[in-house]
Amino acid sequence: MARRKLWIDNVTENKDLSGKTYIVTGANSGVGLETTRQLIKQGAHVVMACRRVKAGQKVAEEFKSLTGSFDVMRLDLADLSSVREFVKNFLSRYDQLHGLDCNAGMVSMGRDVTRTKDGFEMSIGVSYFGHFLLTESLLDILKKSAPSRIVLLSSCVHAGRPDNRPYVHLDDLNYDKREFNAMNAYSEAKVANVLYALELSNRLKGTNVSTFSVHPGWARSNFGKENVFMRIISPIMAPFIRSMTDSNEESAQTSLHCLISDQAVKHSGEYFSQSSVLYRDKECKDGGWPLATPNPHAKDMKVAKELVSKTYKLVGLH
Ligand SMILES: NC(=O)c1ccc[n+]([C@@H]2O[C@H](COP(=O)([O-])OP(=O)(O)OC[C@H]3O[C@@H](n4cnc5c(N)ncnc54)[C@H](OP(=O)(O)O)[C@@H]3O)[C@@H](O)[C@H]2O)c1
Repeated sequence: MARRKLWIDNVTENKDLSGKTYIVTGANSGVGLETTRQLIKQGAHVVMACRRVKAGQKVAEEFKSLTGSFDVMRLDLADLSSVREFVKNFLSRYDQLHGLDCNAGMVSMGRDVTRTKDGFEMSIGVSYFGHFLLTESLLDILKKSAPSRIVLLSSCVHAGRPDNRPYVHLDDLNYDKREFNAMNAYSEAKVANVLYALELSNRLKGTNVSTFSVHPGWARSNFGKENVFMRIISPIMAPFIRSMTDSNEESAQTSLHCLISDQAVKHSGEYFSQSSVLYRDKECKDGGWPLATPNPHAKDMKVAKELVSKTYKLVGLH
């Protein structure tokens, strides 16, 4: 059944963003591409942080006629040295940052664990560890440019279901000891992002830097399409599931609300969601800006702080 889509309000949609600088990771595709398009339409300068620079440059051709501007820069979140290089290049070119949209993500669909260059399990490595290092390395410029915002893409799968709520395994974040399960790994990565937004907002109190975690919806993007099975099955399934899924533009709305709306900043640290048939909890299906996560493991500040403290060491910050 189709659900009413949450959409940014008129004031937000028409806000003049000229003079503002944003970074959107994974800006060449799906939700990131549409988020980028709207920011540029409203006059912003967007640094499109892409793993494949040529793909970024190609889609950015469409943005040349819009009011704002863009710059495509290389960022591979599965490689911490690439994150460091990106930060170095960004800081050498820019002296302000008003919004960091940690949008890129992937799910590794195989039966066996795949790893980032630094040995993290791939889903959590890209979604959480890579974005963690990126965010922490840009905190000073975000504080200096405040008011500013940080958005971390999560997913409704972080909520799990009433009899099975995913949680971060602090003693084995990277499937070194457990049997690998791709969907569990992805869900845990997205719990980590909800917890990180929560911890960061607490740490950044009084700085005018706000943080949010987001479920974009069930986007008709390229998500999961590296998988051969998904590549075959997606076009066959598309007509049947169309009414349940969201366009990439609809899926960008929640990130845009968190990045631009004056209302969002009243809820720093919280989880925001597009409506989504994918929730197993009935009360979540209509979404919410913000939405109370039904997963107790995703709102436990003690766990959030332990996760962050462990992550500092794992990404080489302490
Ligand atoms: N699609 C959904 O229904 C859905 C639902 C819930 C949450 N989400 C989340 O929404 C976010 C956006 O996904 P989407 O639906 O727009 O998917 P998408 O079309 O596949 O876009 C994902 C983007 O992430 C980039 N990316 C993947 N690995 C990367 C890496 N190692 N370094 C840098 N960039 C990397 C991709 O780059 P390439 O083009 O080079 O691969 C692409 O630009 C993700 O965080 C996803 O987990 C999506």
